[in-house]
Amino acid sequence: MTDLRDYIERIEGEGELVRIGERLSPRFEIPAALQRFDGGKAVLFEDVDGYDVKVVGGVNGSRSRLLKALEVEPGGLYTRLQEAVRDAIRCGMGDGPVREVVVDEPRLNDFPVLTHFEEDPGPYITSGVVYARGPDGRAENVSFHRLLVIGQDRMAIRVVPRQLYRIMQMSREAGLSSLDVSISLGLHPAICVAAALPAPFGTSEFDVANNLLGGELRLTECEHVDALAPAGAELVLEGKLRLDETVAEGPFVDQSGTYDIERQQPVVELVGAMHREGYIYQALLPSGSEHRLLMGMPREVRIWEYVRNVVPTVKGVNLTVGGMGWLHCVVSFEKFREGDPKNVLMAVFAAHPSLKHAVVVDSDIDPYDMEQVEWAIATRFRGDEDLLVVPHVRVSSLDPSSDQEKELGCKVGVDATKPLGKRGFDKPGIPVSEEVRRLLDRYASASR
Ligand SMILES: Cc1cc2nc3c(=O)[nH]c(=O)nc-3n(C[C@H](O)[C@H](O)[C@H](O)COP(=O)(O)O)c2cc1C
Repeated sequence: MTDLRDYIERIEGEGELVRIGERLSPRFEIPAALQRFDGGKAVLFEDVDGYDVKVVGGVNGSRSRLLKALEVEPGGLYTRLQEAVRDAIRCGMGDGPVREVVVDEPRLNDFPVLTHFEEDPGPYITSGVVYARGPDGRAENVSFHRLLVIGQDRMAIRVVPRQLYRIMQMSREAGLSSLDVSISLGLHPAICVAAALPAPFGTSEFDVANNLLGGELRLTECEHVDALAPAGAELVLEGKLRLDETVAEGPFVDQSGTYDIERQQPVVELVGAMHREGYIYQALLPSGSEHRLLMGMPREVRIWEYVRNVVPTVKGVNLTVGGMGWLHCVVSFEKFREGDPKNVLMAVFAAHPSLKHAVVVDSDIDPYDMEQVEWAIATRFRGDEDLLVVPHVRVSSLDPSSDQEKELGCKVGVDATKPLGKRGFDKPGIPVSEEVRRLLDRYASASR
């Protein structure tokens, strides 16, 4: 199973999808519904005002659903993602349902692109996964990029100076004036997770996704540009990324939940499209839990790697949704020496320079359950001994409380681990038989 469509069917069977049959507009109304369900079930909009296709959103909006989609246990996530990047598997090539309809002169108005927030400059494509190949024909890159619709066949694309940016530079140096790109929407969660991962330069994140999908991902050649796209995508926009033109992009509500600034960014000209018959348009609410989880997960892998150099057993790393998947981190680990927690805190900050606040907890605390984390702070933390304050240090440009121009602020680490060898810090258990435990589990899951 490598398609979004099969995945939607599966999560519906598991009670993880809400269908809304009433007519809703892509302008504000569908985003408002996505906000209402944020962090919970995925939502399928069956009647989209002005369009005869469906819209789905919030597909990757819960950690537990993402883990299930990747078929990993929480404790195995980071090694699985590391392995997928290390042992990326070349995708097979072939035909696929995305070629059912080929459009020669598409207009962006034909697609139900959402306008999300009140001061947005226009409709934004937010779940687009962009594929590009370098001028040597070998280096490939796949990453998410938001696209602002600025005309019937023109979009402004936000490109942070990373790998797509580097391919653009290489293409410019090779004398090209544009770069062919595919923009795929409506993808299995494993492809979305892979597209958010920082694979080494040149590696196609589609091949990383292929590892996560057991070697079953097929790609297809685009019709109008020299680029590849998943054969099972719902919709593929084919574009020419102009290397000689920029336009105003933004303001956009970023992961922080506040408006980012307007910038000069490149233009993508739409030259073709392919889609399934009756395709499902995939939406992603900017700053919603889906945005934060997909942004945070790759960083969690890095933090996990750094912390493992300091202590042998790391139970979990959570770049919390409340901390916008970027500024707040909780790490749970097995403490052996009294000095471990502060070393862990320093490793966490070194792994993710944008981080603002970090909390370390013992391995009996679930780092993904913020009530348990708060309990650990309440009972195991003392401000005079267990606090690490690092003033005047590089922080995230997304933190409005920092000096955003210089990216200067303050980092705070909280050691909420219990002192070794001292009693009175553990929660007493209630001894019951396996049979009673199973009975209670059954009632608890039935009442969910
Ligand atoms: C939902 C989502 C939206 C994103 N939007 C953008 C964007 O607009 N521009 C950008 O440069 N990176 C964006 N990113 C980040 C890149 O996808 C991410 O940094 C990716 O790892 C970069 O790939 P690279 O290492 O191949 O350069 C977004 C990530 C996610 C998960």
